Amino acid sequence: MAELPLIIDDRETPKFWVNRATMVEPGILEQEREKIFDRCWLYVGHESELQNVHDFRTRRVGGRPVIFTRSSEDNINVLVNVCTHRGMILETRKEGNGRNMRCFYHGWSFNTDGKLTSMPQEEDYPDGWKKSERCLPRPPHVDSYRGFWFLCWDKDQSESLFDYLANATDYIDLVADQSDTMMQISGGSHLYSMHANWKLLAENSADGYHAMTTHNRYIQMISASGADFKKRTGGGKGLGGGAADLGNGHAAVGASDHSKGDRPAGLARAFHSEEAGKDYKERRQHLAEKFGEEWTDRILGGRNVVIFPNLVIVDLGMGCTVRTFYPEEPGYMEITSWELSPPEVTDTLNDARKSDFLTFWGPAGLATPDDVEALSRCQKGFASYKIDPWNDLSRGMDKEHPASTDELQMRVFWRKYNELMTGEAVQEESGVYEKVDMIARTGK
Ligand code: FES
Ligand SMILES: [Fe+2]
Repeated sequence: MAELPLIIDDRETPKFWVNRATMVEPGILEQEREKIFDRCWLYVGHESELQNVHDFRTRRVGGRPVIFTRSSEDNINVLVNVCTHRGMILETRKEGNGRNMRCFYHGWSFNTDGKLTSMPQEEDYPDGWKKSERCLPRPPHVDSYRGFWFLCWDKDQSESLFDYLANATDYIDLVADQSDTMMQISGGSHLYSMHANWKLLAENSADGYHAMTTHNRYIQMISASGADFKKRTGGGKGLGGGAADLGNGHAAVGASDHSKGDRPAGLARAFHSEEAGKDYKERRQHLAEKFGEEWTDRILGGRNVVIFPNLVIVDLGMGCTVRTFYPEEPGYMEITSWELSPPEVTDTLNDARKSDFLTFWGPAGLATPDDVEALSRCQKGFASYKIDPWNDLSRGMDKEHPASTDELQMRVFWRKYNELMTGEAVQEESGVYEKVDMIARTGK
């Protein structure tokens, strides 16, 4: 562990500094695996990815291989994707549908409930040996909230998922309520990597401060396309929203006001067609009839949410990206992201969402490469951490209502991080839970 503290949280000055050793030291990553990824609730997948009985998706969660599957009894299961015979990865396909999964090594087969169903030459096992004792193991805790499935590897975890999510549930509701049935992950995902520490992406995913500089070229492009960017961003000063501490290390920042549905949200380009704009307005009307004006304004208000430690939901009306990431090394992470849509949207609007998912958020899109470059350069810069070990995240620390361009959302993350790593909790900055998308509209 670094000799210096992980953070300096000085409420007097005030200032908030983060030790760059947390980004580079292998010993710290080992502790993060144990104290964070082995203890927190971690995102597995969305229920809509498993439409049919026996559908499965394989992925790694907290560094461990799992199978996310729908069983013959229509239950969602999370199984450890490791053959109980001699430890080989069982299912190697990313996704599929099948009653049984067969291990490549000696041919043991397991069903989507994790039961060992058959193996070659079964008669050669001793009489007392039981197949039922060799089922696929499961994470100690698996639970869901409104279609979002999580697991926890800590058998001693006593906090329920609902309690763990704290006020982040409000923000998941804002996403889930966009569909009358269930939000749906569009087919396919983005899988990419970055030579940067994983915590930099937790910071960057809700960093309103960097948008105007890091993504300047993109902003010039959408301005040139006719989008009234100034109107959207409160005179071009920033994204225009507030920031909120949602509890337990989770935080959100709001986008500017585009809740009336007369223009696309966040940093989106102008609607790709008049028809898409018309469809968007009709959707707003449908939501308002169902939920009333206030909740509809919030739903369409747009927000970036970071759920500690490694789930991000960027819901900007132009699309909703669900993103998770995991550190392979202190300076290297792998990222997966999906697009989440209401199945009710028209093809035109769905095409616009998919286009933004690809061309804005995609690994070769108009935003993500900027972020990859910025975070990789930070990581390179951290080579000098012994000379100057401190990152500065003090913006807005003296404000009653920090903005999305301040750094409250990052301090919230780092305080939870520090608590889990050191066992010492520090008091939160403000006990008030703010609705960031409301702040965006009222400017308060
Ligand atoms: S390791 Fe899977 S069948 Fe032997
Ligand atoms: Fe960015």
